[in-house]
Amino acid sequence: MNPKPPTILKYLLIPLFLSLPLFLFLLQTPSTPTPTLRHRRPPAGIRIRPGYTSYATYINRQLNKTQNPKLRRIWRTRDWDRKVRVFSQFFQLLQSKNLLHNSSRALCVGARVGQEVEALRRVGVPDSIGLDLVPSPPLVVEGDFHAQPFGDETFDFEFSNVFDHALYPEKFAREIERTLRPGGVCTLHVAVSRRADKYSANDVFGGVEAVVGLFKGSGVVYTRKVDGFGLDTEIVFRKKEGRIR
Ligand SMILES: *[C@@H]1O[C@H](CO)[C@@H](O)[C@H](O)[C@H]1NC(C)=O
Ligand SMILES: *[C@@H]1O[C@H](CO)[C@@H](O)[C@H](O)[C@H]1NC(C)=O
Repeated sequence: MNPKPPTILKYLLIPLFLSLPLFLFLLQTPSTPTPTLRHRRPPAGIRIRPGYTSYATYINRQLNKTQNPKLRRIWRTRDWDRKVRVFSQFFQLLQSKNLLHNSSRALCVGARVGQEVEALRRVGVPDSIGLDLVPSPPLVVEGDFHAQPFGDETFDFEFSNVFDHALYPEKFAREIERTLRPGGVCTLHVAVSRRADKYSANDVFGGVEAVVGLFKGSGVVYTRKVDGFGLDTEIVFRKKEGRIR
């Protein structure tokens, strides 16, 4: 005689039922950490912060800061004059060293509301624009620095103080080198001896060399210590002439 289906079910269900507490216990134990975007090869000397489960998570977190209305208001009002003045001093030094010219086509990468663009225009570089996830007309256009919306060899000069916000520092560097003309100058402000801010996506622990190592198509003109709104080091690169890759 074949046992009736309900009997089979009983044999299956009773052990299942008895092991339920075990299952519930296993569910509660944190077995797998939050999955994190895998880097094929993390850049030497740079740590990518954990917790970004997808590119969208990363962009959302960046947008959370960039779109924050309170922050944007502060950037435009209380911070504006002081930051424009300090950025102007940085740019004037570059002008005096012949690394930035009034005729330069200039890009500020990750410019938020455009304080550095305003500074460039004030020191006599009218052909300057900023790039960020959120546009801020007329100074800043919309775009992702991991895939700049500009053609190859567009700019003579690029400035950025958001290196620490790059989820893919290699792409950040490659895009700057792609859109810079041969002989063009890139100036970065980075934090090499402390953590940047809570919205940072990476931390540099390998010193200036870790950042320099990403700019394979450029040479370092100089580096110096600066007081750049929480960022402590200025690195000035010049893109090599001729074919680099
Ligand atoms: C965005 O930021 C606000 C305030 O800083 C926070 O309360 C909120 O949870 C954040 N949202 C996301 C999606 O991260
Ligand atoms: C560049 O522009 C600034 C500001 O307008 C001006 O003071 C300076 O003389 C200009 N430099 C040159 C080399 O023309």
